[in-house]
Amino acid sequence: MTEKMPNQPSPPSQPWMASVLTLFPDMFPGPLAQSLAGKALAAGLWSLKVTDIRPYGVGVHHKVDDPPFGGGPGMVMRPDVMAAALAAASEGLPDDTAKIYLSPRGKRLDQALVRELASRSGVLLVCGRYEGVDQRVIDAADLTEISIGDYVLSGGEMAAQVLIDAVVRLLDGVMGNPIAHQQDSFENGLLEHPLYTHPRDWGGKVVPEILLSGDHGRIAKWRHEAAIALTRERRPDLLEKWLKSEGKEDHSKGKKPTK
Ligand SMILES: C[S@@+](CC[C@H](N)C(=O)[O-])C[C@H]1O[C@@H](n2cnc3c(N)ncnc32)[C@H](O)[C@@H]1O
Repeated sequence: MTEKMPNQPSPPSQPWMASVLTLFPDMFPGPLAQSLAGKALAAGLWSLKVTDIRPYGVGVHHKVDDPPFGGGPGMVMRPDVMAAALAAASEGLPDDTAKIYLSPRGKRLDQALVRELASRSGVLLVCGRYEGVDQRVIDAADLTEISIGDYVLSGGEMAAQVLIDAVVRLLDGVMGNPIAHQQDSFENGLLEHPLYTHPRDWGGKVVPEILLSGDHGRIAKWRHEAAIALTRERRPDLLEKWLKSEGKEDHSKGKKPTK
């Protein structure tokens, strides 16, 4: 069921791979089987390996967790079980594969990190459950902890899916228009400008005149200024970083984009 995508180059000999360790293998590919990521998966532009942790559990019941030493609530995923599952999931992965434990304690995922992960051969993603994974296996396997935001999910699976989705759309051939993502929020350090489509007049709300002018130079300038204004209003932290990286000062505080 290979679906041809627009502007799609031949799949690379070894496509970008996500190797996922989870107690819930049926959660994959899940939403990643749909839309852009799903078409790209079917087209061989990336690949997915899912390793079920459960068979590596100990005893007749394949136990994967135990209470924390030192007391406290919940259960912790055992290092012996996780190490065995990790060995299976890592088999044959290229050396530059990023080894990641999805964790709210980790470095926050952002577009720069997503781009970095897209430049590698792939990622190994450990999805935690319960209270998390025993520290010794995180250290022994040299896993980098990555968080998708300052909130706590019940498991790492959806975080893994967020990370994979963000990476996959950057891979060669995945987007219909290969430069489309260059205008996305964060790609150039700013939030994206406002977007408009048909109808021109929607219940009295009209599209900014300049976007109908056909003057690409003026449109680009308007969009750039609108992106700056929006970023200033919603994410002054981002704007400050962007101004610094551009060696600029903010002369237009309070200015709104011209309509
Ligand atoms: C209930 S959480 C454990 C939270 C952990 N006790 C703590 O306070 O840091 C279970 C698992 O969900 C995943 N998880 C939860 N929140 C996450 C987040 N913000 N980003 C990435 N993974 C997350 C991790 O894999 C974690 O091991």
